Amino acid sequence: MKIIFASSNEHKLQEVKEIFKGYEIIGESSDVQEDGKTFQENALKKALAVMKKNNCITIADDSGLEIKFLNGAPGLYSARFLENKSYHEKCEKILEMMKDASDRTARFSTAIALCIPNSKNIVELAHLNGVIADKIYGENGFGYDPIFYVPQYKMTLAQMSSQLKNKISHRRKALDIIKLHIDNLKGCDCYS
Ligand code: IMP
Repeated sequence: MKIIFASSNEHKLQEVKEIFKGYEIIGESSDVQEDGKTFQENALKKALAVMKKNNCITIADDSGLEIKFLNGAPGLYSARFLENKSYHEKCEKILEMMKDASDRTARFSTAIALCIPNSKNIVELAHLNGVIADKIYGENGFGYDPIFYVPQYKMTLAQMSSQLKNKISHRRKALDIIKLHIDNLKGCDCYS
């Protein structure tokens, strides 16, 4: 079964391919404006636009880092935070903003939308809880991974192997639920 993943992010595409083994996953960027008020709205907007263009089963995600001390920022604006700066600089800026924070609680959130031609849309939201580290650690992953510390594993996401990150990530949790919906389609003649 062919599924389009509406994203141009290579890291995310690899994650999706790893989880959806046995499916043909094709990455396609969507040019829609991410102007929704929630991760769910943005994910749905992206998936719908790409599904309508290709008339093919499409999934899309919208994710972000939410930090309690910063009232949920950068949140929906995680990608646009300090636009044109490198992620190293973005991470450094967040560490500076957090220098007096007593509460370093944070979470990654992901909404995944699934749009199927002539069917209802499905959106799932999932989180990964953690804390903002005291400095940058690790070189793996992408985005804010080097400052996102997961107490259970005593390391940041950037210190984890991609296999471990992909096992516990916010995106993994949401994709696992979406995959159940897609697996259920397999019995239908029109999709198999
Ligand atoms: P978007 O979902 O592509 O709009 O991503 C929003 C922002 O959140 C981007 O700046 C990403 O770098 C960041 N982000 C999303 N998921 C992750 C992750 O798993 N690790 C680190 N940063 C992430």
